[in-house]
Amino acid sequence: MNKNIILTAAALLVILVSMIIMVQPTMRDKYTAGYETGNASDTIKLPSPVYDSEVSIEEALYKRRSIRGYKDEPLELAEVSQLLWAAQGITDLRNLRTAPSAGALYPIETYLVAGNVSGIAAGIYKYNPHLHELVKVVEGDKRAELCDAALGQAFVGDAPAAIVFSAVYERTTGKYGERGTQYVHMEAGHASQNVYLQAVSLNIGTVAVGAFNDDEVKAVMEMPANEYPVYLMPIGRK
Ligand SMILES: Cc1cc2nc3c(=O)[nH]c(=O)nc-3n(C[C@H](O)[C@H](O)[C@H](O)COP(=O)(O)O)c2cc1C
Repeated sequence: MNKNIILTAAALLVILVSMIIMVQPTMRDKYTAGYETGNASDTIKLPSPVYDSEVSIEEALYKRRSIRGYKDEPLELAEVSQLLWAAQGITDLRNLRTAPSAGALYPIETYLVAGNVSGIAAGIYKYNPHLHELVKVVEGDKRAELCDAALGQAFVGDAPAAIVFSAVYERTTGKYGERGTQYVHMEAGHASQNVYLQAVSLNIGTVAVGAFNDDEVKAVMEMPANEYPVYLMPIGRK
């Protein structure tokens, strides 16, 4: 009797473990869809974000300013990680994020244009918020080209890195029609303000840049056809 119970329990355990092993790759696939890379070495696991600091939200709001002059010093990967998390990080088991989104449809994609970031090669990376990872999409230092695309605003090329927000409008307009276009732009504003406030807390300078040539930024970033740039934010030490 006891032996039968033990055998049944063992069989159930084996079935359960097999099911977990079978389901796990499916879950990873779900979270890498849209962030695929042909080469595993092109994926960079980011340091975990921190959820506390010495700077209050009131102080961050009070001190937030657009900063266009940056030291010629590298940014740490942990700093970049924290800024990306502030922009679009996952903060909830239901996959909700730091910034609100109409219908929780999340049309905003987030890129890092890295020129001088410790521990990662110069290149353009896409942020996968689900796994808090960067996926390389373009090799090499593209800051000068991004600067040209941003109507030659020199600080875009001088900054060690830039966060670039793009939008996949159809995710939101599919549900909300034309009004969805407005929602997408509102959401880019939320993400941008999160970066501004997080930057104050990290003592990093940034500025929201809306003056750029859409087609040129899209080309430099090698964005998929259904993605359009909405905001650039150079980041660097003040
Ligand atoms: C939608 C939008 C677009 C902007 N585009 C640019 C830009 O292309 N270049 C720039 O230097 N600053 C840009 N800014 C930053 C503003 O110039 C800045 O917010 C303003 O001067 C107020 O300064 P503050 O942010 O320090 O309060 C933009 C700001 C917003 C909200």
